[in-house]
Amino acid sequence: MSSTGQLRSKVEKTLTRSRARSAALTDCLDGTDLLAQHSPLMSPLVWDLAHIGSQEELWLVRDVGGREPVRPDIDELYDAFKHTRSSRTALPLLSPEEARAYVSSVRDKVWDILAASPLDGRRLERDGFAFGMIAQHEQQHDETMLATHQLRTGPAVLHAPPPPPARVSAQGEVIIEGGEFTMGTTLDAWALDNERPAHPRFVPTFAIDVAPVTNGQYVEFIAQGGYERSELWSERGWLHRATEGLIAPQFWERDSDGTWWRRAFGVRAPVRPDQPVVHVSFFEAEAYARWAGKRLPTEAEWEKAARFDPSTGAVRKYPWGDAEPTEVHANLGQTHLEPADVGAYPAGASPQGVQQLIGDVWEWTSSDFEPYSGFEPFPYAEYSEVFLRGDYKVLRGGSFGTDEVACRGTFRNWDHPIRRQIFSGIRCARDV
Ligand code: AVJ
Ligand code: FE
Repeated sequence: MSSTGQLRSKVEKTLTRSRARSAALTDCLDGTDLLAQHSPLMSPLVWDLAHIGSQEELWLVRDVGGREPVRPDIDELYDAFKHTRSSRTALPLLSPEEARAYVSSVRDKVWDILAASPLDGRRLERDGFAFGMIAQHEQQHDETMLATHQLRTGPAVLHAPPPPPARVSAQGEVIIEGGEFTMGTTLDAWALDNERPAHPRFVPTFAIDVAPVTNGQYVEFIAQGGYERSELWSERGWLHRATEGLIAPQFWERDSDGTWWRRAFGVRAPVRPDQPVVHVSFFEAEAYARWAGKRLPTEAEWEKAARFDPSTGAVRKYPWGDAEPTEVHANLGQTHLEPADVGAYPAGASPQGVQQLIGDVWEWTSSDFEPYSGFEPFPYAEYSEVFLRGDYKVLRGGSFGTDEVACRGTFRNWDHPIRRQIFSGIRCARDV
């Protein structure tokens, strides 16, 4: 356990990083663009910004700080359950200037509250959980805002250096021997409610691919009639494919000579064959896996491949160990605006040599979003509980757009199986 001083500076660093990112995602656009509906699936960016402040006010100013509300009049506007994303442009939202002033006045109070908090005592404050939860919440919305940027049309406004090139080969698969491992976590202080508690889980022997599915492999699936062969798809997936007329990942188009191009953040470029495929739905992931003679991993398989060290029997926070991610481990945090080619992160490999589990693309699993035995909603039911047992599939591992605070071997994301505006990709597994 780190000292309270170290913890306080970690909270400070983490909150500062998330705010810098929120600013970068919103300062690059004018008021009209910030208030616009770029897709019916997304909120106007200025809603996300003020919602970030509203959650921070709720948990850190009012609850942890015990202070008077800053803006009780806007609670309803920024309650995610009160209005659908597509109806939010019609609300009397704070203007971009008002939203910026609001989030910064909330943050000013939070610095005082952080200085006064023992970071101990009741569960919400112990180990700085509430601060960590709010930093994760902001980063999750930053990733959502990044997806809104991707849906937005027009010239590029975001810029980043290209991801590192492949350094090693990343082909084939790894066998994970059958047996029990510890799934989930009880001790990781900032883990969210749905990752808890740690529990033994038996996983039969299976094989998992060393790397995510690449664009080159996915192009082959398309060329072999992947989108035309109903037998590769689930019944529901096939119906969805037909209704939506899906023929390729979102943001792809084919030119007259057959070359596939993709558009990412306002830049059109030929699809790179060794880059993990991104912007596919669960249904497409499932069809690809069947075409490849494989299947998607369950989330227990994914987590065992990512955390279990057979030489010690222990589990790690990340595939490479317990050390916080650096740029050699994983493509996280919007450092780059696209996944890195497979083989780009040998230092991030798991004990058994599985690569790029963390970062690059979220990986669809075959699992429904269900609670672990012993699950308790904390601190609010609207984070996880209301989504459990719904029409959601679990995604694991984080993407290039996920910050390290919102990503670890136990972290569980979820979305509807038709969704693909998220940074979602595929890793295959197989029975052996
Ligand atoms: C965990 C990414 C599914 O964006 O709906 C943000 C995160 N929860 N605000 C979402 C979240 C409340 C959540 N996901
Ligand atoms: Fe939220």
